[in-house]
Parts: sequence; C-alpha cells; structure tokens
Amino acid sequence: MLKVSLDNFNKNVFNELNNTWAIITAGDKTVGYNGMTISWGGFGIMWNKPVAYVFVRKSRYTHEFLDKSNSITMAFLSDEYKKAKSIFGSESGRAGDKFAKANLTPVFEPDFNGYYPKEAEYVFKMKVLYNTDLENLPSDLKNNFYKDNDLHTMYVCEIKEYLVKE
Ligand SMILES: Cc1cc2nc3c(=O)[nH]c(=O)nc-3n(C[C@H](O)[C@H](O)[C@H](O)COP(=O)(O)O)c2cc1C
Repeated sequence: MLKVSLDNFNKNVFNELNNTWAIITAGDKTVGYNGMTISWGGFGIMWNKPVAYVFVRKSRYTHEFLDKSNSITMAFLSDEYKKAKSIFGSESGRAGDKFAKANLTPVFEPDFNGYYPKEAEYVFKMKVLYNTDLENLPSDLKNNFYKDNDLHTMYVCEIKEYLVKE
C-alpha cells in the first residue's frame, strides 16, 4: 500500500458507503481484533481534524474491541470481494475468525498498532477521538431502527493515514 495525502481522495462517499461498503477492523496487538462490514457513517472535519463517523451497534463483537482500543481502520475492497464483505456483515467474530472464513489477510501496522485487510483498494488508519451512545432519538427512528433497543454508538475517528493499493 502507498501512503497518499488525503487531498487526493476523490471518491463519491455516498456510493462507496451505500454500495461498495467498508470493512472496519477494531483492536490492537494487546486486545486482539475483529472486523465487520459497515455502510452507515460519514466523513468530514471535526476539531480541525479529518475524521470518519462510524456507527456500531452495542450487540456487535466489534463493539467490544472499540471499548478496549482506540485503533480502528476503514477499508474499501472491490466487489471481487463481495462474498467476503457479506461474511463480515452477516456473521459474528464471536463464532470464529472471519478473516480466515472470508479468506482475507489481516495486515498489522506496528507504527499504528492496528489491523486492516491486505486485499483493500484503499484504507483509512484511524484513532477514535470520541464516542457516544445515540440517545434522545425521535420516536419514528426508535420504532424503525431500535425496536430491540440495540443502540448505535457513534465513533468520531481521526484519519491518521490514507493508504492506496499500489
Ligand atoms: C451492507 C452492510 C452494512 C452494515 N452496516 C452496519 C453499520 O453501519 N453498523 C452496524 O452496527 N452494523 C452494520 N452491519 C451489520 C454488521 O456488519 C453485522 O452485524 C456483523 O455480523 C457484526 O459482526 P461482529 O459481531 O463480528 O462485530 C452491516 C451489515 C451489512 C451487510
């Protein structure tokens, strides 16, 4: 992977999140790691830093790693890996190593103490700056998305590095 300036990022983020999907990987060398597929989120500027906003429900195994580590990556893989992305989005790491099951290769970055799938087209290496549980939701959102009270935690993640496949 090549480290590239964020100034060169020119993707349509609506399409990337909604159709391509991302795999986030949370955790580090000490606590271990797990990944899952996401399509809700966003990118922007917060506290003068480039950030991604990621939303993870409390029931996700990945949530446990975010409780213990601030290392998180967001990786976009081509649709050649759609099956792998579906596995990461439908099975839980509690039942076994999804990287092995989906035939993806976790790469460890020592300078950052976190992981991402080697097969990615591009990756954001990030650190969680802040998290909060979504609350005070209007009743229509509550009824549509949170009937079982499985709330999302929002993570504001600083983008530390942008890597692109060579
Ligand atoms: C296309 C797609 C998008 C998803 N987006 C999210 C998301 O933004 N937030 C979330 O909490 N779960 C999302 N999920 C569900 C998780 O990926 C799924 O529950 C996963 O199995 C959790 O894995 P884990 O228990 O190993 O963390 C999405 C699933 C798919 C297929």
